[in-house]
Amino acid sequence: MALDQFLTALDSMLGEARACLETVDSAEALEQLRVKYTGAKSGALKSVQKMLAGIEGKDKPAAGKRFNEVRDGIEEALAQAAQRLGVSGVQESIGPSFDPTLPGLRPNLGTIHPITQSLEHLKEIMGRLGFNVTEGPEIEDPWHNFVALNIPEDHPARDPLDNFYLATAKASAPILAGRTTQSAQPARLLRSQTSTVQIRVMETQPLPLRIISLGRVYRPDAPDATHFPMFHQMEGLWVDRNVTMAQLKSVLRLFATSYLGGDVNIRFRPSFFPFTEPSVEVDYWWNGQWIEFGGAGMVDPNVFQAVGIDPEVWSGFAFGLGVERLCMRRFGITDIRDLYRSDVRFLRQFAT
Ligand code: PHE
Repeated sequence: MALDQFLTALDSMLGEARACLETVDSAEALEQLRVKYTGAKSGALKSVQKMLAGIEGKDKPAAGKRFNEVRDGIEEALAQAAQRLGVSGVQESIGPSFDPTLPGLRPNLGTIHPITQSLEHLKEIMGRLGFNVTEGPEIEDPWHNFVALNIPEDHPARDPLDNFYLATAKASAPILAGRTTQSAQPARLLRSQTSTVQIRVMETQPLPLRIISLGRVYRPDAPDATHFPMFHQMEGLWVDRNVTMAQLKSVLRLFATSYLGGDVNIRFRPSFFPFTEPSVEVDYWWNGQWIEFGGAGMVDPNVFQAVGIDPEVWSGFAFGLGVERLCMRRFGITDIRDLYRSDVRFLRQFAT
């Protein structure tokens, strides 16, 4: 079809439509005109649009442009007529009309990350056991990450190779040495354990205490199926008169069966931490092997002394559990890295 023929057809349609719409005098007549010109199935615009297909390639842009102008012109005339007659809601013309036979569009909703779900679930279980939730900073000083936790200056846990020290200008000398001196600005590091929060809480809150603290910790580990340089811990601390190791064990057992299921098999292994005495590591049984998911023990008297609590009067237990290890067992996730690849196809599986 020739371009000028097409343009003429468009122009006369616009002229005719304007003339009709200027004089239309009832809502019904307006609706008829709307259908006549802009109806989705056999409206005039629709049939002209079909003619576009027969226009030669080089003329298409000009033809398309004019078509859009005419369509806008008719829509404007329709809107003016509707306004004049006090009719509201003139339907979008050639735009998408509602077709109830088409499948609906599903809104693309996010889902809650399995670790976030676990954090909430852990808080809920520990809340029932009477533990209050507290928080501490992820950037720490050596006092809270080490010294007050009975980890002396020359302890290998303070090695720069095992910690993310922050390279602040003033602190660089102590960083290189992996320690701080009284005179220098203290080094800062990303906390390597949530046990820091034990110290912060005992420094500031009145006794007795029963708290948990959940959050991120950082260690320069090479990522593999069970290690990641950032992970989450749940720290627990109970300080009162006459707190015992038996209570520690029953709290952890209760916790494990609530979170992992009544049939979970857990065991306590004698171990060592500078800030607890005696100390244990806690394992669960999964797929034919014991998997460690945390450490625990009775608060060491040196830790109490560091925060000014009398170890002759008060006793307590503390534990630190790996949230990823718990979450993985609960959801059957076998590679910790999957949790942090941000692949929604993986994460969606855990939608609640
Ligand atoms: N902070 C220890 C760790 O990160 C765990 C722990 C917490 C052990 C509290 C004993 C008491 O491995």
